[in-house]
Amino acid sequence: MSIAVNQLQKRFGNFTALDNVSLDFPNGELTALLGPSGCGKTTLLRIIAGLEYADSGQVLLDGEDASNQHVRERQVGFVFQHYALFKHMTIFENIAFCLRVKPRHLRPSETQIKEKVTKLLELVQLDWLADRYRINCDGF
Ligand SMILES: Nc1ncnc2c1ncn2[C@@H]1O[C@H](COP(=O)(O)OP(=O)(O)O)[C@@H](O)[C@H]1O
Ligand SMILES: [Mg+2]
Repeated sequence: MSIAVNQLQKRFGNFTALDNVSLDFPNGELTALLGPSGCGKTTLLRIIAGLEYADSGQVLLDGEDASNQHVRERQVGFVFQHYALFKHMTIFENIAFCLRVKPRHLRPSETQIKEKVTKLLELVQLDWLADRYRINCDGF
């Protein structure tokens, strides 16, 4: 998916977090956003994912204006700096969760969910943890 942002502005009170930001992220490219703490990296990612809305400017996903789309409709994945896992679900179920909550007509079958989640876990070499529950960092 190609992502572009066009003249994004975001203020929190009288503090300007994003001031006219325009960037292109072509399909298949890996991009790193570098900058000092507080320069607006997380705010930009939250606006792209739809977790936050810009005051003005656009987010284009595959060339389509997604600025007013709900986070659920955007198909943008997001891994938080601070992890958020449901502790009552296994690692497998945590990953499957986003597929299970899709509207019925968009929801993959149980077999497809198993396939997708297993493939993702294999990709990051964590398939051996699929049936485990969340481990707290102080548990190591
Ligand atoms: N919900 C919020 N309310 C008020 N200020 C915020 C909020 N989110 C971020 N900010 C402020 O916006 C600026 C950019 O934050 P952020 O995007 O988290 O920066 P980064 O990820 O680059 O460290 C910071 O000064 C931060 O304090
Ligand atoms: Mg941040």
